[in-house]
Amino acid sequence: MDKHPIGIFDSGVGGLSIWKEINALLPHEPTVYLADSKNAPYGEKSKDEIIQLCIKNTEFLIKKGCKLIVVACNTATTNAIDYLRAHYHLPFIGIEPAIKPAALRSKSKKIGVLATKGTLSSLLFHNTAENHAEEIRIYEQVGTGLVPLIESGRMDAPETRALLEKYLDPMIAAGIDYLVLGCTHYPYLLPVLKKILPEHVRIIDSGEAVARQTKAILIKNDLLADTVENPIHRFITNADVKILQGFLAGYGPSLEVAYFDF
Ligand code: DGL
Repeated sequence: MDKHPIGIFDSGVGGLSIWKEINALLPHEPTVYLADSKNAPYGEKSKDEIIQLCIKNTEFLIKKGCKLIVVACNTATTNAIDYLRAHYHLPFIGIEPAIKPAALRSKSKKIGVLATKGTLSSLLFHNTAENHAEEIRIYEQVGTGLVPLIESGRMDAPETRALLEKYLDPMIAAGIDYLVLGCTHYPYLLPVLKKILPEHVRIIDSGEAVARQTKAILIKNDLLADTVENPIHRFITNADVKILQGFLAGYGPSLEVAYFDF
């Protein structure tokens, strides 16, 4: 039993899609969420820059008393989680594009992966993709420009749809039957993605799996806060508070959203 919060960070609002999964599965856990929107997008930065940003976020969350950290960002996980695990003594949960479940379920043996440049160029992604290379053809696409559109709340804008069509049309034409969302920002594009993709193309992301893994690691380390009623959820952004509040609309009174220049 441990009443300390779970720490979660992302380059912005994307990891809120993971926070929602964690909160649904672990409703007694207090959380501290860091939105490093000032430094978004991480996906265009070098591995070293991403590691430095992850160190900054991790040390901030450790100072807030977090017992475990969820790196709710594919780009940060694929570039920095090995470093974080080697240098800090608390458990880290990461997120990677869901290639494996998509590869297992695909009938056409062709899957698409939409992710950031930082994720698709990482060694971790490359190794995972390689493990499935024999039985599956993977169509990779960098989602350049999508994160800034989502960070500014423009999920339904015509330019967002146009970008997605440009990115997805070739893989649709190639015959994919699964699209892996390899960036935690992209689940916010689901309504427009469903309009663009043919009905038989399934969309898959790793959010639920991350929540299940978080629960398993809390249990294993005896860190569950399962008797806490109405746990406090703190959200800290180093950019516009209103954007974060917009993404959290409807999530109840126990949420504290604040600006801090971390
Ligand atoms: N949400 C992040 C991810 O899952 C990164 C987006 C970005 O900052 O480029 O990759």
